[in-house]
Amino acid sequence: MRETLTLREGYFEDPNAFRALADLLQDVFGIDIGLQSRFGGPDPSSMPFGYFDATGRCVANFSGFSMPLFIKGRAIVAAGFQSGAVLPVFRGRGLYRDLMQRAFAWADKQGFEAGLLLTDKPQLYHGYGFRIVPQFSVCGDVTQTVPADAEAREIDLKNQDDVALVLRILADREPVSHQLSVVRQSEGFLLNAALDPKIRLSYLPGFDAILAWRLYGGTLQMLDIAARQIPSMSEIRDALGVAHDRIEVFFPTDRLEWSGDDRPYDGSCALMVRGLQPSDIPAPSMLSPMADF
Ligand SMILES: CC(C)(COP(=O)(O)OP(=O)(O)OC[C@H]1O[C@@H](n2cnc3c(N)ncnc32)[C@H](O)[C@@H]1OP(=O)(O)O)[C@@H](O)C(=O)NCCC(=O)NCCS
Repeated sequence: MRETLTLREGYFEDPNAFRALADLLQDVFGIDIGLQSRFGGPDPSSMPFGYFDATGRCVANFSGFSMPLFIKGRAIVAAGFQSGAVLPVFRGRGLYRDLMQRAFAWADKQGFEAGLLLTDKPQLYHGYGFRIVPQFSVCGDVTQTVPADAEAREIDLKNQDDVALVLRILADREPVSHQLSVVRQSEGFLLNAALDPKIRLSYLPGFDAILAWRLYGGTLQMLDIAARQIPSMSEIRDALGVAHDRIEVFFPTDRLEWSGDDRPYDGSCALMVRGLQPSDIPAPSMLSPMADF
């Protein structure tokens, strides 16, 4: 079977090949990464490895990309791995093993200190040095009410001016946490917001900040804050002005002047890391879901 397939690496400059990958991910995961074209296209640091058949169909893929992190106050040169999929009729023939080996070898050659991925099949990656990092959100009750005349404005990702505003703020953001956060990853932030209708983005003009959040019952779930200067929890709540009686934060709260109780995060995928010792990663902590990839 392998003989009839062509291996392509770093093929995103070819729009047909990118479309073929989007089709593969639509078939396997039911998500449309083609939405990224509204937000300036795929991450320029992406290094996809894919097998294509004679008709140009992408039948297997695994991609690496640059994902600089902040961990315990230190900038870490890390690679993320994503878009791992093989069409059902091509499975069980070693295609994915081949692509994983190529992508991890590429990352090693590039000199990335660490590798990260999210998966519902952790056993696939144990043999390549990846270990699960347990994740925890931070929860707390609130007593103070929020003002009704809040200044926040909801962002509409169908509006190009709003997209430009979010991109500007993401390009110049401070790490949302010094404990564990991505330094920069605009593409993931916007794609995650566009793919999940429950995620809302609000612009807080007083702080020139974008807050990604959800309301779950009476709980305000904070997913990420992009800003030059991270506002405190009380400043965020006042500026947002959405009634709630509980807060859950999905990133470490070291910059929010607020703390709560840690709660194990039961996302559908596990965060896995290689190249770092468990003691290198603050515990408990979690990587913002807006960095999901
Ligand atoms: C998971 C998937 C990518 C595997 O592709 P594949 O080409 O069939 O995999 P390979 O034949 O190259 O097998 C590679 C290794 O993975 C193992 N493996 C394959 N499918 C697996 C599965 N569903 N669960 C756990 N391990 C699996 C194989 O046993 C093999 O192990 P080995 O290298 O120790 O022998 C493919 O089944 C798929 O696209 N599934 C749906 C999407 C998905 O789950 N993607 C990965 C998400 S991170």
